[in-house]
Order: sequence, then structure tokens, then C-alpha cells
Amino acid sequence: MSLKDELTQIRDEGLEQISHTDDLKELNDIRVHLLGKKGPITTALRSIKELPVEERPGVGSYANEIRDDLTNGLTARKEQLEDAKLEAQLESEQIDVTLPAAPVVQGQPHVIQQIIDEVVDLFLGMGYQVLTGPEVEEEKYNFEMMNLPKDHPARDMQDTFYITNDILMRTQTSPMQARTLEKHNFEEGPLKMISPGIVYRRDTDDPTHSHQFHQIEGLVIDKNITMADLKGTLVTMTHEIFGDKFDIRLRPSFFPFTEPSVEVDVTCFNCMGKGCDVCKHTGWIEVLGAGMVHPNVLNMAGVDSETYGGFAFGLGPDRFAMLKYGVDDIRDFYLDDVRFLNQFVKRGI
Ligand code: PHE
Repeated sequence: MSLKDELTQIRDEGLEQISHTDDLKELNDIRVHLLGKKGPITTALRSIKELPVEERPGVGSYANEIRDDLTNGLTARKEQLEDAKLEAQLESEQIDVTLPAAPVVQGQPHVIQQIIDEVVDLFLGMGYQVLTGPEVEEEKYNFEMMNLPKDHPARDMQDTFYITNDILMRTQTSPMQARTLEKHNFEEGPLKMISPGIVYRRDTDDPTHSHQFHQIEGLVIDKNITMADLKGTLVTMTHEIFGDKFDIRLRPSFFPFTEPSVEVDVTCFNCMGKGCDVCKHTGWIEVLGAGMVHPNVLNMAGVDSETYGGFAFGLGPDRFAMLKYGVDDIRDFYLDDVRFLNQFVKRGI
């Protein structure tokens, strides 16, 4: 067989091999074999020198042609195989966008927040402004301006977390009374405000108390405000939040910033007044403190206590939530067990 025929055979067999492989690695092996140093083309090219001189250029350029044919065949097949591989990968990694999505759980305000919202709505409707104040509070507003001087024994009842000697975590929302009184311009009208928020106390001796809980402060100051206004406001609120069957009872009490002061009880949700374990057989549950604002509080805030006066109250939304939903352990609100909290789902919000 002439060298030319041999080269033609090498090409035909080579192209045949190339077209039959489906594997990139095998294709590379074929390339190395055909075009490598020990491959048939190299061997053929080496034997050119044995040909008569005049035949050499013709066979030489034919050999180059054959090598180009094989190189092109290899490149084309490589591209084909790579495309096919990519295609297969795209196919296998396809995302099925028609699959139903995992359900999104819709959250809702915590039951205590729901109560706060209800109380705030009610007072907004009665013309109160809603204010919030700092939880990290000056000792001056938390105690001093609320008529609790430095060595006052009532400070013990509200032991708290001090940041410095003068700055503390507020023990009550009452400092908002002083802050608002300082700013209010009575020539523009009476002062009516409520202020919801979180308060802190170093309570350790009672498992039903948390070191952090909620309060809503209320304050009304104008000329000729009486205790009857306070009682009327509290009755209205009780009926709105709990229902008409619930009554209130005022008991004399003491707060340094009100005089006279009262403790306010609401009919026990559990026995409706008959007496049970929840209400310690009194028929009543204590829900808030209130009273007529002490003249010292007004004077310290720069308000003339001869002309102006009014009432203040501080209520616990946690207690309200217990009463409204008949929950007998306040700690349940803070355990964040969704099985408990989902009982208070507000539909349609
Ligand atoms: N600040 C009082 C407390 O935390 C509640 C209160 C507020 C009482 C306003 C009277 C008037 O116990």
C-alpha cells in the first residue's frame, strides 16, 4: 500500500473512531493516539524521507491535510459532546416552578399587644393623645418628679436595674406624666394622654411576676376634674374592653404621686364575683392603680396646682389579657408557646 493510501486509511479509520465515541475522555485518548508522537501520522511523516525526492512534497502536504482533517474532526466532535453534556445537565437540573410552594405562616400581634391596641383605640376615640417614652429613664423622672424623693421608702417596692446612679430602667410608665406635664401648654387646652410601654422591676420573690412587663399610663389634667371623672372613665373602659357584666371596685391605696389614691379591681372573670381560687375568694381582681394627681407632681413640672388638677392611672395589659380571656397563669403569655398564642388569633387583620 502506498504511503498516500496508508494516510487515507489512517484518516478514515480515525474519523470513524471519532464519530463513534460518546465520551470526552475517550475522545481525548483518540486525539493523543492519532496525533501524538508515537501515532500513525507521525510515523507516516517520518517515513516520507524514504520516498523518492520528487514524491516527497506531494505526500508531505497530503499528510498535513490528513492531520488537519483529523484535528477538525476532533474539535467538532468535542464541541458536540460538550453541548450534549450541558444540555443533559440543564435538563436534569431544571426547576419545576409549578410545584406548590411551602405555606407561609402568617403571624399576628401577641395577645398582650392586641389588648394594648384595643385600649389605645378606645382612648384615642375619647380624644386622648398617645405618647411613648424612654425605657432607659432618668432617675429624676422615674422617682424624683413623681414625688418619690431619694430616701422615700416606697422606692423599695419598685427596685430596678440601675445603669448609673442617675439612669435606670423605668419601673413604671408614670415618668411620662412628668415629661408630658413639663411640655404641655394649658392655654391650648386640657391635657389628655395615654402612654403604653414596657417597665422593669427587680422582682424575684414571686413566680407570677416578670422582671419586665407592660403598663399603660393615663393622665388627664384640666380645671375642675374630679374623682367622678376618673371613675366614669374607668367604668367606660371596663365595659368596652370586658363587657357590660364587668364592674369595678375602688379601694383606698397609696401612691406617692396621687392623693387620694385607689387600687382598682374588676369582677373576677372566673367566678363572675362569687369567689374562687383565681380571685382568692374575693370576687375581684386587681388591675390598676389610680388617683388624683398630687399637687407636688404638678408644681415640680411647672404646672400651677391651684388652677389645674386631674387624675392619673396605670394599668397592666397583662392582667387585662388574663381577665379578658380567662387565663389563670400570667406566665403563659411569656412562654411563647404558639399552641397557647394561636388561641387568640384575630381573624381578618
Ligand atoms: N405607677 C403605678 C405603679 O406602677 C401605677 C399608678 C399610675 C398609680 C398612675 C396611680 C397613678 O404601680
